[in-house]
Amino acid sequence: MIIAIDGPAAAGKGTLARRIAADLGLAYLDTGLLYRATGKRVLEAGADPEDAAAAEQQAWALEPRDLERPDLRTDTVAQAASKVSAVPGVRAALLDFQRNFAAHPPAGAKGAVLDGRDIGTVVCPDADVKLFVTASDEVRAERRFKELQESGADVIYARVLEEMRERDARDRSRAVAPLEPAEDAILLDTSALNADAAFAKALDIIQKK
Ligand code: DC
Repeated sequence: MIIAIDGPAAAGKGTLARRIAADLGLAYLDTGLLYRATGKRVLEAGADPEDAAAAEQQAWALEPRDLERPDLRTDTVAQAASKVSAVPGVRAALLDFQRNFAAHPPAGAKGAVLDGRDIGTVVCPDADVKLFVTASDEVRAERRFKELQESGADVIYARVLEEMRERDARDRSRAVAPLEPAEDAILLDTSALNADAAFAKALDIIQKK
């Protein structure tokens, strides 16, 4: 059983994917972390995330412990991740790991939930269920804004909204594996749903499949 969950930034994919995986006893992979860790490595090497050769080199050099870093959730790293993710060589370097996780989930799990931007279209085109999770720009920015505020960050809502739109526009317009729903994906708009309601709807969709 493979469940693909795609969608734009801060749509609630991660929370939803984690809950689905726990509920159904499936393994969970946050594929955004691979791009974030690559972006972080590029920044630390003092290179430009838009430098294709530097980005590809860091993607191939990625190690499991890079994914466990506590500092991958910042907006600076998110922007770097979005930039490196537009490099075809980076996507190629990270593809096998994601497909292998889906085909052979760790710890004997009987399937996997992967969340990202291109899971239903490129990584797992044969997934059993494909969800495309969205919410309005304002709702997504508000959620992200609150999350940042709660973590003690000094943030401005308008800036959060602007950065999120910039990242989504880049993710949607890149030439390779852009952010878009697979033809057979089911759209789940969480603008008016809290986490519990989104989870209930998603489970309903999965059970019907
Ligand atoms: O899901 P996230 O916000 O952690 O992802 C960070 C960036 O990584 C996102 O802006 C685009 C890229 N990404 C991608 O291109 N493909 C994926 N499957 C997951 C993330």
